[in-house]
Amino acid sequence: MSKKSGSSTADTNNRAEGGNLQFNLAAEVFEAQRPVAGRVERNSPVLRATGLHKSFFKGKLEIPVLNGVDFEAREGEVTAIMGQSGSGKSTLLHLLATLDDPTSGEIHFGQRRIDNLPTRQRDKIRNKKFGMIFQFYYLLPELTTLENVLTPCMIADSWLAYRFNRKKYRARAEELLDMVGLSHRLKHRPRELSGGEMQRAAIARALISEPEILLADEPTGNLDQANGQEILKILRTLNTEQGLTIIMVTHDRAIADKADHCVRLVNGHVEVVSPDCQRAIRIG
Ligand SMILES: Nc1ncnc2c1ncn2[C@@H]1O[C@H](COP(=O)(O)OP(=O)(O)OP(=O)(O)O)[C@@H](O)[C@H]1O
Ligand SMILES: [Mg+2]
Repeated sequence: MSKKSGSSTADTNNRAEGGNLQFNLAAEVFEAQRPVAGRVERNSPVLRATGLHKSFFKGKLEIPVLNGVDFEAREGEVTAIMGQSGSGKSTLLHLLATLDDPTSGEIHFGQRRIDNLPTRQRDKIRNKKFGMIFQFYYLLPELTTLENVLTPCMIADSWLAYRFNRKKYRARAEELLDMVGLSHRLKHRPRELSGGEMQRAAIARALISEPEILLADEPTGNLDQANGQEILKILRTLNTEQGLTIIMVTHDRAIADKADHCVRLVNGHVEVVSPDCQRAIRIG
């Protein structure tokens, strides 16, 4: 899997050094604007689910949610997942991130099956390769905004390694928080933030580990239009300039239409690929 195949060496170096976050925010808002030439290698599936079933159980009562979902996200592309409330979008995202186990079916990251790996290996892959923006943020209430953004680094590193790297991590966390417009809220705790500010902190946290894939559950769901547009610009810039693969749940048809592909969950299946999506293809 070639990560960031569309980025320059300078971009790559900047990221390796903690991330030059001076993105070109003049880019069109979330438009699929990548040239086709030279990008062919980015279009291989990077995260793939086949025959995914998921049921929850309340006592003996089975609650089937996913009934054989086939899904794939292609490298360096933005895939939108739509569907009615309760259709299983968050469930699917959690399964793709190996945060929960499917009842049956398989999940592959690149060539590797990951749903059946031991927990520690799954944790490692998730920590290093995936960034997750949860629908309900899951910020830790006792930590400040800055500390919350740093938690993936704390989890990924040994205590010693974290101490060694902490200045670099802190600088990157501050850059990310600046990027999402929260540089004035570094020391606030989640209860002292608005819903939209919590969402932006969660976005910064998802990006701190420089993930290959961002799994975003309604990342603009609690933002006003201006802030939502700004976040989408940032995500699209990360996608076009650094090759970040994005899987995004959204209720907003206008956002989904600007993704590279979009799928809709209906009755536990990926039933519809919106024909209005730019360059929509059949998935599954
Ligand atoms: N832990 C659980 N136990 C039982 N049922 C659950 C559990 N988690 C989710 N469900 C059920 O699974 C269904 C799908 O939930 P999910 O959160 O994936 O929906 P969603 O498409 O993300 O909805 P929304 O757009 O409202 O966020 C819902 O009917 C929900 O009640
Ligand atoms: Mg949801």
